[in-house]
Amino acid sequence: MSIAVITSDHLIELAYMAAAVCFVVGIKMLGKVRTANRGNNLAALGMAIAIAATSLFLLVHERWDTDTLRYLPAALLVGSVAGYLLASRVPMTAMPEFVAFFNGLGGAASMCVALAEVPKLARQNDGFFEKTADLFGAGGPRTLADIGVDFAIADSLSILIGAVTFSGSMIAYAKLAGKVKGSRWGPLGETWMNVVLVLVCIGLAIWGGFFAQQTHHLWIANGGLVLASLVLGLGLTLPIGGADMPVAIALLNSYSGIAGMTTGFVLRNNLLIVAGSLVGASGIILTQVMCKAMNRSLKNVLLGVMGDTAVGKEEGYVGVKSSGAEELAPVLAAARSVIIVPGYGMAVAQAQHKVRELDNVLTKLGCDVRYAIHPVAGRMPGHMNILLAEADVPYEKLKELDAINAEFANADVALVLGANDVCNPAAEVQGSPIYGMPVLEVWNARTVIVVKRSLGSGYAGIKNPLFERTNTQMLFADAKKALEELVAAVKAQ
Ligand code: TAP
Repeated sequence: MSIAVITSDHLIELAYMAAAVCFVVGIKMLGKVRTANRGNNLAALGMAIAIAATSLFLLVHERWDTDTLRYLPAALLVGSVAGYLLASRVPMTAMPEFVAFFNGLGGAASMCVALAEVPKLARQNDGFFEKTADLFGAGGPRTLADIGVDFAIADSLSILIGAVTFSGSMIAYAKLAGKVKGSRWGPLGETWMNVVLVLVCIGLAIWGGFFAQQTHHLWIANGGLVLASLVLGLGLTLPIGGADMPVAIALLNSYSGIAGMTTGFVLRNNLLIVAGSLVGASGIILTQVMCKAMNRSLKNVLLGVMGDTAVGKEEGYVGVKSSGAEELAPVLAAARSVIIVPGYGMAVAQAQHKVRELDNVLTKLGCDVRYAIHPVAGRMPGHMNILLAEADVPYEKLKELDAINAEFANADVALVLGANDVCNPAAEVQGSPIYGMPVLEVWNARTVIVVKRSLGSGYAGIKNPLFERTNTQMLFADAKKALEELVAAVKAQ
């Protein structure tokens, strides 16, 4: 009878499996506002387990060299402190550029790991890589079969996708943070240039992965691949205009997952393959959902051929009517049905608690209050849901675009709070930069009250004809201040 012996390797595999389960369940829980917080914590626990298991693996096997072990605690400390400080200080409104920045670091990490493994592709040792000498031993030249075709493919893909993700994400970050403007740098950003770069990358990847035999050729092929891929990432992301950037970020997030997955094949690490696949697949699903919400074609996003949008300010409005809180309070107090449309301005003003207060006051008066949530309202997926959940707005009151659009016709008031693009009727006009984007049809309500500080444009930088409609009343003020005044005025009715 044989007795099963549990070795450290078994424990590591078990820990990897537990971490993978945490990732899968965590991502599932992120899909609902109620469970999102716990889902995030569970996924973080999975990551902690994964790091602990990998550290144990290194301790047991000293897989790379003793230097790795020496630097590991310092790397963990620096990474954890930097991540904690950055994440706790970033304002919610700057979350998209922050996510873009982190995606980029994920891509860079995959690229660096894959580059560190390049010496293993060598078949003839000309002494260029010190590390290669250990691989040859007394065995002499090696064949592609010794190296593993899967390894050769995965290593080149990791470098390519990792580098594209890194430079693309950094440009996305810089554009969102307003540090880079424009959509072309010479020929860079032109579609033909992107096609040429893709072909160059494929050629270099094939040469580096399958044909380069000597170590200095490997260096030239993979160094060239890094450069060409970095330039390709710039070329794919530069032409993307502000209004389309959220989709690009979701796509770059997916790329960072795919780069992680291919790195998992390079290191033959199952957990990295699982985690990378999860990020890659969920990122591409999110990209598709957002493409649908903004009526963009996934093909154009992939090829970087989305148009830039013109940025306009207060352009040529006529017949705009504006009122104060005192004048609008009777309309709200008499309303039986109010649909609140929150947008980016509500987030900027941090007005979510005041929204809840107004909701309470109106509900006490017998009014049915609901919220219309556009999938890309704000600056990140689920932005409005998170803010409203923070103010304890019951989840049942939040209605998605498809469910609420038909309801505006029966609503007495549509109260638009710092939202602009997501309720712009120009989306129905051919030739508009947001043509075809599904929008909240607030103009069908009996009265539309738009709370914002000026006639300034939203993220897409275009005019909003909603402000000129005969049933629209503008309330020019900061959203929080306007709500405070509205609550007081409605209570006084
Ligand atoms: P926007 O179209 O960006 O409009 C926001 C409006 O809020 C602005 O017109 C601004 O007008 C107003 N505002 C700013 N601060 C305010 C304050 N303190 N009080 C009151 N109003 C204030 O917002 P939206 O309707 O939510 O649409 C979102 C846009 O962002 C879409 O174009 C979307 O594609 C894009 N985007 C979305 C995401 C995701 S994933 N949600 C990510 C990145 C970009 P004033 O300056 O006149 O006040």
